[in-house]
Amino acid sequence: MRTSEARMRTVSSPAAMRRLSARWRARGLSVGFVPTMGALHRGHLSLVERARAENDRVVVSVFVNPTQFGPQEDFSRYPRPFRRDASLCRKAGADALYHPAPGVMYPPGFSTFVEIPDLSAPLCGRSRPGHFRGVATVVLKLLNQVSPDRLYLGEKDFQQLTVLRRMVRDLDLPVAVRGCRIHRERDGLAMSSRNAYLTPQERALAPRLRAALGLCAAAARRGSAPAAALGAGRRALRAIPGVRLEYLELVDPETLQPVRRLRGKMRLLTALRIGRTRLIDNIAIKV
Ligand code: PAF
Repeated sequence: MRTSEARMRTVSSPAAMRRLSARWRARGLSVGFVPTMGALHRGHLSLVERARAENDRVVVSVFVNPTQFGPQEDFSRYPRPFRRDASLCRKAGADALYHPAPGVMYPPGFSTFVEIPDLSAPLCGRSRPGHFRGVATVVLKLLNQVSPDRLYLGEKDFQQLTVLRRMVRDLDLPVAVRGCRIHRERDGLAMSSRNAYLTPQERALAPRLRAALGLCAAAARRGSAPAAALGAGRRALRAIPGVRLEYLELVDPETLQPVRRLRGKMRLLTALRIGRTRLIDNIAIKV
């Protein structure tokens, strides 16, 4: 699939990105796109590798998007190891690294936003108002700039994946969305750029998080009532010292509404804080 263009280009303006993508498309080459905020880990690289396997050209964007952070959130301290990210992208086989500046993405007077209210309000939306509006807006802009055939997103941010699938469907965007499975550390912790914030003591709690989610998922698979399964999971999470549970919910994977009966495909989703770090995770459940 890949031809001789093994050199990765770094592109920083929307116009240059559009030109590059248009050149590829004019030659009949397919384009896969992996949007990221950098601080890349193995989970991101698996998206790049999948895009590499399914497309002729692969674009990775690194852009820490200010509009998806709340005023009290970690925008300014979010890790930005750009040279390391560039080297990882190159090794994973990206053809272009798209790295626009904030002022280019949001010039003075910028005032258009994309809202998907029913999917953005529950779960993470409760504690992060405006977050998915920022995500949807930047991803729509990036899609317009990169014009990919396929968009690769991790299932770890399951609500984000659901919101973006809906945006693509509702706005008839000509891109296929590929959700990719969660990559985990050996002890079960879902890979995330924010794991770097955890102290060694906090990091050591990962197996207990995994066990609590597993307990709840097992109860659901055995056919316990949703309230009983969630009750067991919530108690187990709250019993972990230093953990503040934000939510643990069993939802329909398309509507994100809580399930009343355990039937068919569901998703067990959680968000919690350990010290100053907010973590999210989820498990697919089929009964
Ligand atoms: O998942 C992320 O890293 C971000 O939310 C995304 C999709 C790159 C948009 O900024």
